Amino acid sequence: MGIVDLKVAVLGAGAIAGQHFDAIRRTEGFVACAVADIQLERAQAIADNYGIQAYRDYQELIRQERPDVVVIALPHFLHRETAIFAAEHGCHLMLEKPMALSVAECDEIMAAATKADIRILVGHTQHYISENIQAKRMIESGEIGEVVMINDVRHLNYFQDTRPQWFLEKDKSGGGILANLGTHSIDKIQWLMESQVRKVSAKVSHHGKRGNVEGSGVIYLELESGLPATIAQSGYLGATRNETEIIGTAGMLKLVTGVSLWMSRGGAYEQVDVPPMDTPFELQYKDLLSAIASKNETSCPPVYARSVIEALEAVYRAAESGVEQFL
Ligand SMILES: NC(=O)c1ccc[n+]([C@@H]2O[C@H](COP(=O)([O-])OP(=O)(O)OC[C@H]3O[C@@H](n4cnc5c(N)ncnc54)[C@H](O)[C@@H]3O)[C@@H](O)[C@H]2O)c1
Repeated sequence: MGIVDLKVAVLGAGAIAGQHFDAIRRTEGFVACAVADIQLERAQAIADNYGIQAYRDYQELIRQERPDVVVIALPHFLHRETAIFAAEHGCHLMLEKPMALSVAECDEIMAAATKADIRILVGHTQHYISENIQAKRMIESGEIGEVVMINDVRHLNYFQDTRPQWFLEKDKSGGGILANLGTHSIDKIQWLMESQVRKVSAKVSHHGKRGNVEGSGVIYLELESGLPATIAQSGYLGATRNETEIIGTAGMLKLVTGVSLWMSRGGAYEQVDVPPMDTPFELQYKDLLSAIASKNETSCPPVYARSVIEALEAVYRAAESGVEQFL
């Protein structure tokens, strides 16, 4: 540990915590100091591995350890409460996506962050995945001409037995597959095109074997730029798929996020070479570190992450009312 290392504490020792700890270990300038989980044995297992302190109570952790940075890797309904508590104690935040349950909650977090003058990076990982970055570069350089539409498709078994129950309870998660994974798609489309959602229609369906959240849905959206896009997601048994097709006047890109990138300018898709990069989580930590050092915003600040929640709220309003929603 160097003298300038910032102390990082992680709240939540669940599925995603390991990727945060790996990235913290690999990022010069940060050092892990503690982990909290109400299931103390989970926190203890990580603490033993990293030689750090485990806590059951996140508030006690923040008071005792006084971390410089707090990572919020908790169920969605806890993002607001923990982000505000950490901000009030002067901690910068690595806040997992989706930012919070509602736009109103996002606004409360942003007010606390402004008051405390802390930096926040919301973990919209899509911005940091090498295939996505390469696709964005190719769109911007005009390799497929003018983009005329994006179609995003995702299928996976969302109701697998190992999924924690809170994901399937709307008051804790904010919604089902569209809140958890649809927000990745909304974010990916907005970020690739640097334009935010302005209009939404949607239909959702509930066929999950547990919980009260939607298990599938189709979204039609338009960006401020006028670009149309569709997002289709289903969480039932079937073939897993995670593909985004970006269709231009001079060609098409097929993005298999985290796996590969393909281009066609007539004829079959051919694989595009993607330069190797640091892992998405390492890039997120580097981004947060430079924002803290420069006192500038991160490249995924709360004001942006709020726009994803605003679009998600419009999706659910459109699905409930059957009426197109404008943002
Ligand atoms: N960026 C990505 O690609 C990505 C991937 C997976 C998850 N996530 C996000 O990360 C967050 C966590 O997801 P996960 O899959 O790790 O969930 P998880 O359920 O596996 O882990 C959450 C942990 O929080 C603990 N917890 C619950 N209440 C607590 C409290 N009051 N105090 C302390 N600990 C408490 C639980 O015991 C559990 O261990 C979510 O926001 C999720 O959407 C992001």
